[in-house]
Parts: sequence; C-alpha cells; structure tokens
Amino acid sequence: MIYTQEVAAEVLSIVDTTLLSEKEALKKRLSRMKLDYKVRASVHAYVFETEKRKNVIDFIISKCLKGKRIDELDPLLRNLLRVGVYEMHFKGVHPALATDSIVRIVKRRFGEKMASLANAVLRRAEHVNLEGEIAKLDEIRKLALEHFHPEWFVKLAIDLLGREEAVKLMIANNEKQTVYIRVNELKASIESVRRYLENHGVELAETPLPEVFKVVSYERAPASLDWHAEGKFVIQDLASCLVAHVLEPEPGEKILDLASAPGLKASHVAMLMENEGKIIAVDNSEDRLRRMKAKMKELGVRNVECVLADGTKFYAGDVDRVLVDPPCSSTGSFRNYPCVKWRFDERKYRETIKVQRKMIENAFRNLREGGILVYSTCSITFDENEENVLFASRFFKVEEVKPIVGVRGIRRFRGKDFPFWDKVVRTFPHLHDCVGFFISKLKKV
Ligand SMILES: C[S@@+](CC[C@H](N)C(=O)[O-])C[C@H]1O[C@@H](n2cnc3c(N)ncnc32)[C@H](O)[C@@H]1O
Repeated sequence: MIYTQEVAAEVLSIVDTTLLSEKEALKKRLSRMKLDYKVRASVHAYVFETEKRKNVIDFIISKCLKGKRIDELDPLLRNLLRVGVYEMHFKGVHPALATDSIVRIVKRRFGEKMASLANAVLRRAEHVNLEGEIAKLDEIRKLALEHFHPEWFVKLAIDLLGREEAVKLMIANNEKQTVYIRVNELKASIESVRRYLENHGVELAETPLPEVFKVVSYERAPASLDWHAEGKFVIQDLASCLVAHVLEPEPGEKILDLASAPGLKASHVAMLMENEGKIIAVDNSEDRLRRMKAKMKELGVRNVECVLADGTKFYAGDVDRVLVDPPCSSTGSFRNYPCVKWRFDERKYRETIKVQRKMIENAFRNLREGGILVYSTCSITFDENEENVLFASRFFKVEEVKPIVGVRGIRRFRGKDFPFWDKVVRTFPHLHDCVGFFISKLKKV
C-alpha cells in the first residue's frame, strides 16, 4: 500500500536537506518505484503544492508547536506535518481525515510518542484562523503569507514593478508551470512534430517563434512520448528559446557558451547553425556536462564540443559570438522550482553576481572585434540584469534586442538609473506566461 502523503513527505525531506530541486528529488525517490502514473502525478502535485506554500504552512505549524521550533523536528516528521496542514487548509481534505492519515504514518515511522505530538499539532492546526492571524501583520508580511513568497521578494517585486503588478507576478508564480515544446529541426520538421503531438492528444498553440509551441492540454505528458526520447522535440521555456534567436548564430561561425549545461540553449544554437561551425560549450560541473553530452547525442547535435572548465577564465579566443547564461538567483523560475524561493542566501547571491561579471569580462577577452555577447538570466532582480549590463557597457556597446516576446527593461530601481532600458528585454510570468527572463545583446567595438 502506497501512501501518497508519506512518499510526498519523503521527497520534501530530500528537498529540505539537500540542494536538489523538487523534480530532482522526485526522480531520486520515485525512480525505482513501480508506481501507477496517477499515483505518480498525485505525489508530484502534493510535493509542488506543499513546497509552494511552505512559509504559510510553517507559520501555521509554528503556532501549534508549543515550545518547539519546526526546524528542530526530524525532517520527515516536519514534512509529514506540512503535508497534513496543506491537506486541511488548502486541499479541502476534512481535517479529521488529514490528521488521521498523517498520525498513522507517524506512528508507524516514529512510534507512539511522536504520533501523539503529530496528533496534537494537527488538531491545533485545524483551528488556526489563518485569515485572522494574517490580518494582524504588517503589509509586507501579510503579502508574503497571502501569496506564498519570502518577504525579501515582496519588497524587491514592489520596488521593481509597483504593488499592483508585484501582486500579479506573485499570483502568476503560484500557477501551474506552462509547458513549451521546441521542435528540434535537426531531427524532425516543425509540421511532423505538430502532427505527431496532436495525434497523441497534445493540444498546441502557436507562439511568436515558429519552432516553439505552447502546450494547452494533453492526455499523456509530452515528455513521456517516444519522439521526446528520440530527440525530435525538447521541453524548453519560451523565454529560454528567445536567447538563441537573439544570438543570431550563422552556420560556420565559432561560438562560445561559457555556462552551457544542461545545453538547452547550446542545442538550439546548433540547430540554427544547421550543425555547421563550432560551439565550445563550457561548464564547471562534471555531472551536468556528462548529462549534456548524452543529450547532444540524443538531439543529433554534432558541432558542440563540451569542455569542463571555469567560464570566468576559459580562453578560446577569436570567437564570433559568446553566450553568457550564468548561474543566477533563478527568481524568474519560482513556478518551476518553488524551493528556490526559500533558499535565498545573501552571501551566495553577491558571489553569484561576481561570477556573472567575471564571465562578462571573459566574454570580452574571447571575442573578436565586432563580436557579439548575449547575456541572459532567469532572474528578475535589477542587480543581476540591468546593473550588470551597465557594468558591461563600460567596455561593450549595448545593442537593441527586439521584443519578439517581452517588455523593456527597468529604468530606475532604488535610486539607480538604467539608460539602456529600451535596448534590453524582460519576460514575466504574469505578462508572458513563461519564465521571468532577461536578455541583452552587447557588441565588442
Ligand atoms: C543557468 S545554468 C545554464 C543553462 C544553460 N545555458 C542551458 O541553456 O541549458 C548555469 C550553469 O552555469 C554553470 N556554472 C556555474 N559556475 C560556473 C563557472 N564558474 N564556470 C562555468 N560554468 C559555471 C552551472 O554548472 C550551470 O550549469
């Protein structure tokens, strides 16, 4: 007998205690289990829906713990409690039922003493008047709990977009991820993939990019279909697909990708180059590069050379175009990776910005005169985007990115002006139904 709540709590414990994302943790926990696809989908939904609301769920649990802190509890126990609170406060499960099933699991896994603790906590949780408790808080905390975001993000989004739009962004961040499909024209035509998907019950909508479709509905997840395994299409967000088009690679050119794994953009660039010329794909993660190599093979990409190296230092020289899609805060990807919301670390954030700038400087070193750098992130912050372009503009000329999808950049943030706001492009989940992305284009002159 499989208890969805128990497996979901185990996956959430992995997310809690490692750096794995929900998807990676699900894969790790479920890979050797023979689960019916409906049970699998249910575990998946429990994990995402609970993780998404972690701040408010923990707020409720903390009110009920009496003298203990939630982080003092065993990770599995605390995640079982989270699942129970999610069920009774957000999923509409009758509180007595939610409590009963969690207490049974706790009894089997931890014994009588912990079962009576879980029982007491969940019985109290049932009576927490969430709306009333939230109403007592200041504006930022209120918005943070109402829309399931950390307080620092609420402040950032308000300063960036104004209150009304910040709320829209947070609401969109809580919606289900929209899936986009990019046809891999190295292996199949756009028309054949469209027909194949429609024949397999996938309803598609066109996007401004001819090789990219939005998935409107499906009977079976597109990623589980044979043509996905055969590399005839990939799952890639619309905003991410814009990047290769902005780079505008020509067949025969020498391209450098300084942070390339898992290789979605590099494989798209290879497709636009019709496999002619060379893409030097650098990444400093051996594991990610290994997976990237396998993916390139699957996609029929033949002009990518994967190099394990530090993208802030690697030198190839005389390169026509460079892509810098560096590690970032991923603040544009909360829909896809809710755990990212709760992992922000100021020190790491500042370090990441240093890496981004070093990659921009290294791109300059590697480019030939007149060469192009495309700098993109899946972050919505000003520091990682506009401010880095301002830094790059000391030695690069900022070129215009056409807003095929997206809006212009931020003009002013917390007293800082950005004069190139009308040359860069941003996408937002609430405006474009895709990941929050930033794309800029710079020329070495
Ligand atoms: C945003 S991801 C890149 C995604 C990739 N461009 C794609 O489209 O699939 C950032 C990557 O940077 C890599 N990375 C982090 N620090 C690096 C460094 N100093 N040098 C090279 N790669 C680095 C990470 O391993 C990660 O794979």
